[in-house]
Amino acid sequence: MNRIERLIGKMSLAEKLGQLTMTAADYAVTGPFAAGDSTEAIKAGTIGNLLNIFGADRVRELQRLAVEESRLGIPLLIGLDVVHGHRTLFPIPLGEAATFDPRLWSLTAREAAVEAAADGLAMTFAPMLDVSRDARWGRGAEGPGEDPWLAARIAEAKVRGFQGADLAAPDALAAVAKHYCAYGAVTAGRDYASVDISERTLHEVHMPPFAAAVAAGVAAVMPAFTDLAGIPMTANGALLTGWLRRRLNFDGVIVSDFNAVGELIRHGIAADLAQAAALALNAGVDIDMMADAYRRGLPIALERRWVTMADIEASVRRVLSLKVRLGLFEDPYRRGKTPESAPVIAARRRLARAAGARAIVMLKNDGAVLPLPDSVRRLAVIGPLADASAEMRGPWWAAAGSEEPVSVLAGLRGMLGESRVLHQPGVEIDAESVSGIASALELCAHSDAILLCVGESAAMSGEAASRAHLGLPGRQRPLAEAVLERARVLRKPVIVILFSGRALVVPWLIEQADAVLAAWFPGSEAGNAIGDLIMGRIGPSGRTPVSWPRAIGQVPLFYGQRPSGRPADPKDRFTSKYLDASDAPLFPFGHGLTYGECTLSNLRVTPESVTEHDTVEIRVDVANGGARGAEETVFLFARDKLASVARPLLELKGFGRIHLDPGQSGTVTMFLAAQELKFLGLDLQPVFEPGEVEILVGPCADRSRLLAGTIQLAPPPRA
Ligand code: NOJ
Repeated sequence: MNRIERLIGKMSLAEKLGQLTMTAADYAVTGPFAAGDSTEAIKAGTIGNLLNIFGADRVRELQRLAVEESRLGIPLLIGLDVVHGHRTLFPIPLGEAATFDPRLWSLTAREAAVEAAADGLAMTFAPMLDVSRDARWGRGAEGPGEDPWLAARIAEAKVRGFQGADLAAPDALAAVAKHYCAYGAVTAGRDYASVDISERTLHEVHMPPFAAAVAAGVAAVMPAFTDLAGIPMTANGALLTGWLRRRLNFDGVIVSDFNAVGELIRHGIAADLAQAAALALNAGVDIDMMADAYRRGLPIALERRWVTMADIEASVRRVLSLKVRLGLFEDPYRRGKTPESAPVIAARRRLARAAGARAIVMLKNDGAVLPLPDSVRRLAVIGPLADASAEMRGPWWAAAGSEEPVSVLAGLRGMLGESRVLHQPGVEIDAESVSGIASALELCAHSDAILLCVGESAAMSGEAASRAHLGLPGRQRPLAEAVLERARVLRKPVIVILFSGRALVVPWLIEQADAVLAAWFPGSEAGNAIGDLIMGRIGPSGRTPVSWPRAIGQVPLFYGQRPSGRPADPKDRFTSKYLDASDAPLFPFGHGLTYGECTLSNLRVTPESVTEHDTVEIRVDVANGGARGAEETVFLFARDKLASVARPLLELKGFGRIHLDPGQSGTVTMFLAAQELKFLGLDLQPVFEPGEVEILVGPCADRSRLLAGTIQLAPPPRA
């Protein structure tokens, strides 16, 4: 009998339920404690897992209680939301998605894991993989954007980065893919609201990143708070056990979201905690985070025969296996043994700076006002987000509170010197006073260019931060309009730096500004990253992972729509369009300018015909006719025009990248496994349907800018 079975054999019911319980911990002056209970529970073995504590010494002390003072000495599993960095913050995940850089996605997760593990942690509640097509939903900030294929690539990269090659390594974290599933499709973009989507959309859009995370070996999965067509995900046996465990062969741990087991009562499917606990356990949830429903409810549920001891033990087995895989039994103190050296921390800051810059999407750059010349004498840095270092963290950071990120102002002053950078906030982010606008306007006359730093506060996206209005909050619009007007009179360029956890609906601003950078929330090195970009020390290469709306009424907005029987036609009233707005996004998915001027030509798709097991090679020439170097991203889309099921107008299947000096040309080569052209047929099973598929390559998801080729999908040769 192995260690796990021996342990289970010795465990009381209370100890078993302890392994299935996760409680928030904190640190008081008197020492560490677990909320809602006491350190006594750890010693008694009735709490086996903790969240929300970090710091090598604190973790060690709690771990010591479990290992040395509890009867069975089972180590604790300790997790935290390490979503986009731990103490060092990288750009928010939506911003990182914009880098379209798989190596970077992995690297930042690896660095976050190393840093968090040095703080004693063994688990992160990340990556967040919820595809989101509705900018109202605040949690889009934590995720991969609108595209399922992109989300799946991010999923793989993040899981590998967090977990490393060996989960037992002292710098590896168990990743938790969340929130399974379709959380991003909440009704009207309102957080925690009901989700009701088709089976097809569930499997084509929301499931792929989770399938990719499982294929990459993710250690754990967290069900979403929400219900799907009436079945809360925390009690969704068909999707947790049926799909995740049986179909996808996931053998890791399922950990509930915060109090989600208890919330089954409010969802209206459980009368009390015992029933809630039984529903969750029977659906496949192993760990109850923060509801204390398993400890309080499962003994009753057992008596009522709603659950079996075998099911409880199966969950305990999975939790203990994860603790074994993490090396916690071998050496419970392995994480957090060695403090990190200054050079390691400095290198991580450099990575944060590079990632912050790579995440920025240059939406507009009329007259090539950017980059600013080194000769710029004076810059006016205006707006409430210019000197707002705390906001640069973005909405969700659990451990990065001790150090202030670099603000735009600090970054630029560091680069150009104090005297060349003038500043006035003008207004606050979200307040009514406009009394500061006049002094902000005064700066305009004394500067060569104006940087207008506006947007949302960090707290306006993230959890429980849905918005119905997606413009600039507070009095930022009057400020921006006044600055734009004054700049027009003075003939000074206005560069807008937009901070947000989502695509904002600010067409008026984008139209009037000379240049616009979507900076998201860049993290610890924000101001330096932005400075590097606007001063041309690094070229912009980010591409938007979400379509930018022109009007709030366009959301949910995404490029991967299915064709209509009455496609939009301005000359025909009875076609699919708005009467009062264009149906096109202001900026399509994938849009993002560089400092170069790249054009694509000569698309080659070989071979002309493929069977299911072949690979297609796609080559396209790229020429940079601009005056500056460029890192150009090229997207590969497919369109199956005639199939048994209507297929989306465009589906992302790949991307490639090339760096080109001014005047230089090159070729981007991409490979597409024909397997990727399978889709879910009438019966929702994957099918490879013979026929023609269009291969479309270009700079973004704007159909009119794509080069088109075709490929024939051939039936398998006869044996
Ligand atoms: C609730 C959030 O939905 C989830 O993403 C997070 O991991 C937990 N809180 C724990 O902080």
